[in-house]
Amino acid sequence: MLKPEIEDGQASLANPTFRADVLAGFALRPRAIPARWFYDHRGSELFESITDQPEYYPTRTETAILRDAAAAIAERVGPGRAVVEFGSGSSTKTPILLQAVDPAAYVPIDISGDFLRISSARLAQRFPGLLVLPVEGDFMRPIALPAQVADLPKLGFFPGSTIGNMVAASSTDLLRAMRSSLGTGAMLLIGMDRIKDRAELERAYDDAAGVTAAFNVNLLERINRELGATIPIDAFRHRAIWNDDRARIEMHLEATRDATFTIDGRPFAITAGETIHTENSHKYGPRDARLLLRAGGWTPVDEWTDPDDRFALILAEAQPQRLAP
Ligand code: SAH
Ligand code: AVI
Repeated sequence: MLKPEIEDGQASLANPTFRADVLAGFALRPRAIPARWFYDHRGSELFESITDQPEYYPTRTETAILRDAAAAIAERVGPGRAVVEFGSGSSTKTPILLQAVDPAAYVPIDISGDFLRISSARLAQRFPGLLVLPVEGDFMRPIALPAQVADLPKLGFFPGSTIGNMVAASSTDLLRAMRSSLGTGAMLLIGMDRIKDRAELERAYDDAAGVTAAFNVNLLERINRELGATIPIDAFRHRAIWNDDRARIEMHLEATRDATFTIDGRPFAITAGETIHTENSHKYGPRDARLLLRAGGWTPVDEWTDPDDRFALILAEAQPQRLAP
C-alpha cells in the first residue's frame, strides 16, 4: 500500500513534480493542470467506473474490436515478443492480446504505482508462465525497460486512446520516444477514438451518474490531500466541452463562486466563472490518425474498427531510419 503523503498537515513528502505542476498550473491564465495527475489510486478507481458508464463507449467498443481482430493481429505480430503497455491501468483488455500473441514477457508501464502493482499481480496469476515486469513511471519521460526484455522483439500496446490526452507536439514526441525505446523491428498496436457527433461525445464525458465529474473533482481532492491545500471543493463544477476547431473534448473545473484558498501554504484566489483546464481528449479522423503515426515514426500496416466506425485499433511498424523522403 502507498504511504500517505501528508503527515501532520505537512506536504513535505508529496511528489515534487506534482507540487511544481500544480503551483505552476494555478499561476497560468487560463489555469491548467496536466491530466496525468488525475491518476492517484482514487483516480484510477474512478476511471475504471467511468469505463462501466453507458455513455462512455470507448472501452467497450475497443474491447470488442480487439476481440474480433485478435487472430489477425497475432498473425501479423508473431509469437515471442515482449508486450510493452503504456498507461496499462487495470490491464483489463490486455489478456485478450496476450492470449492471442503468445508473448515472451509483459511490461505494463503506469504512473499510478499502487494500482499498477495490484493489476500486474492479478495478470501474473492469470498467465502463470509469463514474465510480468511492471514499471512505475511517467511515460512522457525517458523510461528504461527491464534488462530481461532487452534482446526480445517488442510489441508496444497503447490502448484506450490515451494518445488523445496529449496535444499533437507531445503525442509525436511520445511516439518517437516509443519507437526508439522499443527498438528495431518493433510493432505498435494503438487505440484511437474517432471524431463523432458532439452530443454523443459530450455525454461520454459528462455521464448522468456523475462519475466523470467525480473523476475531475478528485484532482482538487488529491491536491488537498497531498499538498496540504484548502481548496473548497463545493466551489467547483465539472464541465466537458467539445472544441470542434481542435477536435477534442476539453474537461474543465469551473468556479461557481469567488473563493480563496492555500496550496502548499501559498495563497490563491479564483473568481466565479473562471476555469481550470484539466484534460484534452483528442479525436481523430482516419487520415489524422495515420498522419500522426507517420509523424511519430510509425508506418500503419493494418487497421480495425467497429461496424459504426466509432473507434480504431491500428497496427503499425517502426519506420526504418532514413534521411531522404
Ligand atoms: N489502458 C487502459 C487505461 C487507460 S486510462 C485502458 O485502455 O482502459 C489511462 C492510464 O494511463 C491510467 O492508468 C493512467 O494512470 C496512465 N497514465 C496517464 N498518464 C500517464 C503518464 N504520463 N505516464 C504513465 N502512465 C500514465
Ligand atoms: C484515459 N483517457 C483516454 C480517457 C479519455 O477518454 O480521454 C480519460 C477520461 N477522461 C474522462 N473520461 C475518461
